[in-house]
Amino acid sequence: MTNFSLIDGLRGIVMRGPNLTESCSFFENLWGLTLSHSENDEVFFRCNGSEPIAYGLINNPVFGIEYIHFSTKDRSSMNALFKQLVKQNCTIISKPGEFNDFSGGYGFEILDPENRRLRFRTDALKLTNNKKWGYPDKVSHVVLNTPDMERLQDFFTSVLGFRVSDYSGDQMVFLRCNNEHHTIALSRSNHPSVNHVAFDLSSIDEFMHSIGRMKQAGHNVSWGPGRHGPGNNPFAYFVSPPGFVVEFTTELQIINEKKHQPKVWSRNDPASMDLWMTAGPPSTAQRTAMQGKPDPGFPNQINSKGK
Ligand SMILES: [Fe+2]
Repeated sequence: MTNFSLIDGLRGIVMRGPNLTESCSFFENLWGLTLSHSENDEVFFRCNGSEPIAYGLINNPVFGIEYIHFSTKDRSSMNALFKQLVKQNCTIISKPGEFNDFSGGYGFEILDPENRRLRFRTDALKLTNNKKWGYPDKVSHVVLNTPDMERLQDFFTSVLGFRVSDYSGDQMVFLRCNNEHHTIALSRSNHPSVNHVAFDLSSIDEFMHSIGRMKQAGHNVSWGPGRHGPGNNPFAYFVSPPGFVVEFTTELQIINEKKHQPKVWSRNDPASMDLWMTAGPPSTAQRTAMQGKPDPGFPNQINSKGK
């Protein structure tokens, strides 16, 4: 893997909102996650992989992102990342230190320009790989809606060290921090929110099997199955009980850093976002669900510059 960013991967995302933990059975019994930890008003799920906090739900009166969770290779990369972000005048929530939650490890937190909390963690608890055929291995990517795509793209590339993989017209940009085509993508919108969170299956058979499991339980695909142009990944989207859009995906493109050139995929060509032409364009209801609920940003923000 080429280390162009000190961030080497996406661990997952934790969401907050009213009565979110009531949706546990959807994520556990249908979507295919496994409870890794729960306490009071918080539940955390793992996938088949070793990450203990792949997806989390926290009860809170306000809908939004609790934090997006990234990893670095080791503690010295973590310290170097912190230095880099202080230099860039990022809003620091906490300086590098030990985490005292169940996943432990070492890291820090910042706010992005739209007040999303980003948590960076290394040396965390690693669970034993628990491969269950037909169930998600990990969180593949998070797509964020933003009212200022240029500013957020600049933050992810110039400040965090991500690279642009591709564009979908002037509506979306796909960003990578490792050799996977995108771990974060940005989509133009009226407000900051989560567009969707994608979970990776290790084969096309497991991807289709997951769609079948949902269908048999009465949850039909809301968009898909199809294969996207940017990233070349098969997709199947569902709307979860709290209204969050979640995606099954697989076979996401691995980038060759020496050869890859970002491309602008046309939004006028129906095959661009739907290579197989099986899914058709997203319905109005799907587009509305993907707008997400406006996220006012992480509460209790601290306006320290980490000095
Ligand atoms: Fe996606």
